[in-house]
Amino acid sequence: MKKALIAAVALGLGLSLVGALPQPEGRADRFHAQADGLALTPPMGWYPWNIFGQEPQNEKLIKEIVDALVSSGLKDAGYAYIGPDEGICFFRGPDGKLSSNLERYPSGLRGLGDFIHQKGLRYALYTDAGTLTCSKAMPGTKGHEYDDMRAFADWRADYIKIDWCNTAGQDIVATYSLLGEAQRAAGRPVVHSLCSWGVGYPWKWAGAIGHMWRTTSDICGPGRADWAMAVRVAFANDKLAPFAGPGRWNDPDMMIAGMPGLSEGQNRAFFSLWCQMAAPLMAGNDLRGMSPSTLAILTNLEAIAVNQDPLGIQGRVVWNDGDISLWADKPLFDGSRAVLLFVHGSIRMRHKILWEEAGFEKGDELYVRNLWTHQTSGPHTDGFSVAGLEPGEVAFLRISKRNDFPIPPIIVADTTMLALRAGGGSGPEKREGTVTIENKGSSPLPPWKVDPKSVPSWLTVTVAGSGKRQTFVNTATTAGLKKGVYHAQVRADNVEPISGRPLSAFYYDVDLEVVRDVGRPERQ
Ligand code: GLA
Repeated sequence: MKKALIAAVALGLGLSLVGALPQPEGRADRFHAQADGLALTPPMGWYPWNIFGQEPQNEKLIKEIVDALVSSGLKDAGYAYIGPDEGICFFRGPDGKLSSNLERYPSGLRGLGDFIHQKGLRYALYTDAGTLTCSKAMPGTKGHEYDDMRAFADWRADYIKIDWCNTAGQDIVATYSLLGEAQRAAGRPVVHSLCSWGVGYPWKWAGAIGHMWRTTSDICGPGRADWAMAVRVAFANDKLAPFAGPGRWNDPDMMIAGMPGLSEGQNRAFFSLWCQMAAPLMAGNDLRGMSPSTLAILTNLEAIAVNQDPLGIQGRVVWNDGDISLWADKPLFDGSRAVLLFVHGSIRMRHKILWEEAGFEKGDELYVRNLWTHQTSGPHTDGFSVAGLEPGEVAFLRISKRNDFPIPPIIVADTTMLALRAGGGSGPEKREGTVTIENKGSSPLPPWKVDPKSVPSWLTVTVAGSGKRQTFVNTATTAGLKKGVYHAQVRADNVEPISGRPLSAFYYDVDLEVVRDVGRPERQ
């Protein structure tokens, strides 16, 4: 309750600054993601808090959800970041260092991360910027920032959500900046997800430090969706649209689509709003035993295409009569535009969308793609009429001068880690492993470019295949290596061919275990 109040006040104060400060203060064109290339489109994944809260979180549950994410088809739709939230994952020992809670996570937090990486997914973990996490069941990072971020890197986290509980007396910008520095010092690029619920107006400064920031208080209490709250959150988040862009996202919280408490129409509306707002798509429902309708909603690639658009523009409300709102100003990478009509009031409504409202010229000949029925109509020259929509329903449309609606890149990996072991023969040995990535979008991609700085001398990486499916072929050579475990985190980059915009960097881990000292081959 208190948190909701703080966030509401913060939002209220922050709104007056929106027009004046569209960029992080003092660092107008510097965004952290420009360096690590992460989250250039909104992160997609799953997080436990909305449906489970704290108590049932443990290794067994997370692994079951990982398996469901893969087998249901969510992975193939781009969902990748997954892990425990405030799930009593670690404790601080007498030496001040974090250790995994082996009772709840018997494989340890590194073991859980490896399980997730072997499935081609990304590992998300949670902590807090203060002395304790929100429920006080876990230690916060205050005073241990460098050690804790090092521990998260050792566990191979790819995403760290950092809450703002128990932070009395702490300066918010200084604290999150220090945590960002500590992440860089730990040497493992991570999506830094700030979670101050709008406190401290993170949209003004957090893009220089991390990749996404919560803009509002929690969207529901654990276990049950709250539609009225979700609508309030959406309209509050809307006001912050100018602050979002590739690598820096307003986060109106994890999703509630598919949770108890919402109708099918509300699930569809919720998902459409989060897509149109370029919000991170962290599913918050129980993925085991989803209804066919929930699954179809969460994996609707035409809606996800709007969310994952490489231009990264947050659509916003351009008109609102109190019962129905038009969300537009969402140009997409191919010249088309996404438009959403939302009945947030309590009566059935209809509306004719004028081309000028949708960002086109009066009289333009335009095709209209319905992103839920998957049907195209047109060309229309005089706007587009949406027939009656019930309360809580949306029309989610993509409008274009061409009768063609390409899907931007959605990158899916068969694995994000390779564990190679050299058998211990007397001479140098080679070990090979592959990582294959597929683009589920519609265009073939240019060859991925491996960053040579990310490849150590014991490894070579070549890219095989072309277009929509490419393979990183990794060859490790033991020549001259001492017994031990060697690690590399390989980075590859690419561009989306229609817009020329960079894609999020693709990272994967390679471990090479060398079981005995190996000499170098004799020179001839
Ligand atoms: C805060 C966050 C939630 C969740 C809980 C855990 O309320 O906003 O998303 O992480 O903490 O206690």
